[in-house]
Amino acid sequence: MAAQERERRIQGIHRLALRVPDLPAAQRFYRDVWLLSDQGRDGAFEAFRSSAEDHDDVLLVEGPSQIAHLAFAVASPDDLDAITSRLEAAGFSFKRIADEAMFRADAAAAVALDPDGREVWLVVPRPGTVTAVDALPLAPHRIGHIVLWTPAQEAAERFYTLLGFAITDRTNAGMSFLRCNADHHSLALMKSTKGKTGLQHIAFDVGSLDNVMRNFARLRGLEVECAWGVGRHGPGNNVFSYYTDPAGNYIEYYGEMELFDADAPVETRIWGPEHKGDVWGLAGVPPLGFRE
Ligand SMILES: [Fe+2]
Repeated sequence: MAAQERERRIQGIHRLALRVPDLPAAQRFYRDVWLLSDQGRDGAFEAFRSSAEDHDDVLLVEGPSQIAHLAFAVASPDDLDAITSRLEAAGFSFKRIADEAMFRADAAAAVALDPDGREVWLVVPRPGTVTAVDALPLAPHRIGHIVLWTPAQEAAERFYTLLGFAITDRTNAGMSFLRCNADHHSLALMKSTKGKTGLQHIAFDVGSLDNVMRNFARLRGLEVECAWGVGRHGPGNNVFSYYTDPAGNYIEYYGEMELFDADAPVETRIWGPEHKGDVWGLAGVPPLGFRE
């Protein structure tokens, strides 16, 4: 994509909406264990907020475990028009969300289906829509990245590139890391040979190595087992620790991700077979469900 087209791009993750089979268990987990702020209902969904966000960024609704939608923030209505025009020109249809169907954190929104059939919302945010509460010191700041399984990686990369993502890194293991702002990645695509299109994991930024470790100890005290970690990734350089939510989703607390000049040209790097998931060599192999 030409540099001037990348000027009209999404700014980052706006929220993730999940269907979960046991809604009360998921609510308790995200509020009491994961330390998101409970913001009550928004339409059919239960809404939660990370501490540095000024809007709900996690929505939960009861149903078979899967992504309900993922939403990305767009700076202005003009940018929304530019991105949806680009999608349309590439053969993707989209629809505008009517005012009465909008979530309270949205001033304008359009929704498209990505090549794997996921609902992708593009949202001009309406800020300041949450109840002010004092953040707990170890609460996650924001959703930092979302990783998706895809059996159609090339088509998925093409779709997300149309939103303005660029590919920072690829790994020998079939993962591509996509960025749209200063973060090394806000989205990653994990190749599936078994037709998986679901969530591979969601990651919440807790800022620092210390906060990853403090949360590790806090969760151990709550008898929540760490599924993988603590370690430090090669691509992204972030310190990681993975857990599972009651719906079986892998969720990550991370800190210290590699940052770039958001507007610099992107040259994709390749991580070869010598690369292991944890550069410290401490975390061991990831759990089976994390791979495939
Ligand atoms: Fe991650």
